[in-house]
Amino acid sequence: MKILLTGGAGFIGSHTATVLIEKGYEIVILDDFSNSKPGAVARLEQIVGREIALEHVDLCEKTAVEDVFSRHKIDCVLHFAGLKAVGESVEKPLLYYENNLVGTLNLLHVMADMGVKKFVFSSSATVYDSRNPVPFMEEHSIGPVNPYGWTKSMIEQILLDLSASDPEWAVTLLRYFNPIGAHPSGLIGEDPQGIPNNLVPYVAKVAAGQLATIHIWGDDYDTPDGTGVRDYIHVMDLARGHLLAVEYLKTHKGCKVFNLGTGKGYSVKEVISAYEKACGKSLPAQIDARRAGDLATVYANVDLAEKELGFTAELGIEQMCADSWNWQKKSLVFDE
Ligand code: WQD
Repeated sequence: MKILLTGGAGFIGSHTATVLIEKGYEIVILDDFSNSKPGAVARLEQIVGREIALEHVDLCEKTAVEDVFSRHKIDCVLHFAGLKAVGESVEKPLLYYENNLVGTLNLLHVMADMGVKKFVFSSSATVYDSRNPVPFMEEHSIGPVNPYGWTKSMIEQILLDLSASDPEWAVTLLRYFNPIGAHPSGLIGEDPQGIPNNLVPYVAKVAAGQLATIHIWGDDYDTPDGTGVRDYIHVMDLARGHLLAVEYLKTHKGCKVFNLGTGKGYSVKEVISAYEKACGKSLPAQIDARRAGDLATVYANVDLAEKELGFTAELGIEQMCADSWNWQKKSLVFDE
């Protein structure tokens, strides 16, 4: 099978590429490099020991997408490409709705025209209504609270409707919780542009001395130590979840939703402690006001992915932080 990874030069896509190639799949990476670097693909090739077909394409350019499918016989698409900064989506909703929705619609139109009907979508726990009880389950109600989350929810709905209109479509919607960590080689990892919005890449830069102190956004939540609790999952476990989803599509048609998490929550303070152990130094941190929109506790019920996909996250918070730190140190010398 030849698999197209849109956004394949990015964090989740590049790590998924390593697992697919090691399993024997041929892949094509499509990326517009708006939030990733060509150097990541070169380092990915170092990891897998072979060249990877790379298409520098913006999914909003439909003719360019058609050209990719005319030159590669694609059997399955893993769709990672999309803008994903929650705060930026609130400031620039039109940018997010256009980029994420138009890009996806172009992709699906070309796939339908070419008879390519296996699709894995990179969705997010952000689609869940915050009033649901934790752990979040796939049948829980949907209620995004920012444009980014709405684009994910709208694309899920598009895929549900497309699948209902044509039973030949085989689709999995993978709702990620909090992916962190990096490939054990340290050659690829999370590489956000600018000041990181998310906890672990921010902590990583404090550990590297690139940022002064960790800001803990609120320690008065109804959680064991007062700080926010999240379901952190190692990006390599997440990558293996995508491999299992690709295998699942060989024998299952229709559109299915799966949570990809560990089913266990860690607090901000617990993550900081794990990172201090990984980097071997104590990290400066200060308590700040809560971040608007943050929930106290979010983690996944992963029973369905375990039962249907055979998915179980294997790596714990210590390994997540150790691999993140290994990447952070090595990335200091990567020029792109
Ligand atoms: C984790 C915890 C913060 C930064 C987001 C997106 C979600 C998904 C994953 C794309 C929370 C606290 C954070 C900091 C802190 N992305 N925190 N100081 O908010 O759970 O999820 O990323 O799909 O869509 O919403 O992740 O890493 O931002 O926050 O105290 O500098 O760390 O309050 O409790 P979040 P996060």
